[in-house]
Amino acid sequence: MIELAPSILSADFAHLAGEVRAAQDGGATVLHVDVMDGHFVPNITVGPPVVASLRKATSLPLDCHLMIENPDEFIPAFVESGADWISVHQEVCRHLNRTLELIRSHGAQAGVVINPATPVQMISEVLDIVDYVLVMSVNPGFGAQKFIPSVLHKVRGLCDIRAARRLRFRIEMDGGISPETVSSVVNAGVEILVAGNAIFGHGNPTENARALLRVATEATLQKV
Ligand code: DX5
Ligand code: ZN
Repeated sequence: MIELAPSILSADFAHLAGEVRAAQDGGATVLHVDVMDGHFVPNITVGPPVVASLRKATSLPLDCHLMIENPDEFIPAFVESGADWISVHQEVCRHLNRTLELIRSHGAQAGVVINPATPVQMISEVLDIVDYVLVMSVNPGFGAQKFIPSVLHKVRGLCDIRAARRLRFRIEMDGGISPETVSSVVNAGVEILVAGNAIFGHGNPTENARALLRVATEATLQKV
């Protein structure tokens, strides 16, 4: 099943509850929250207080994508604020296994993220302890960037490893996903679609979500 996880990064932060409701009405089943620290990525966004407010505003699972250094220091606060899923970048975790176990020990779903320049091999040893792998299709830091198609082979590689090793992680992709690019993403094997600009960047989030899911579902049917 394909799931849509709108990223609030492109939403109107003064009206988050309404924006989230609108996206949910269009079929969104997860909410993607981009957390940036101005160190790992050249931008700053939101932290646990905003996650706590979102927790009160929606029943959707909150998928917190931590683009921060020293994520271990903040994982407990995100879980206490209501994060359901937490993903950390391979590139910042010296003790990746420990960090993922920390997320799991707090009862959240654990995800590992790889930047466009990071090969799948770098996370091979933790694939058995993650609930999902997030493959970045832009360099993290900003919304509305151009999709990098050369990352798609990593999704196919992950699908092969998952089948060969009988693992259960799901595959998420983030960055530049739009009605124009989503078919290639779904065809490669992505199951969770993050989209910010395509949902909140223009027009009506409900219609945008519906339109994106429609193209994604059509691509799945063609795949079968
Ligand atoms: C990028 C973020 C993304 C971003 C995706 O650093 O991790 O979640 O918001 O936005 P779009 O869909 O606009 O590329
Ligand atoms: Zn993200």
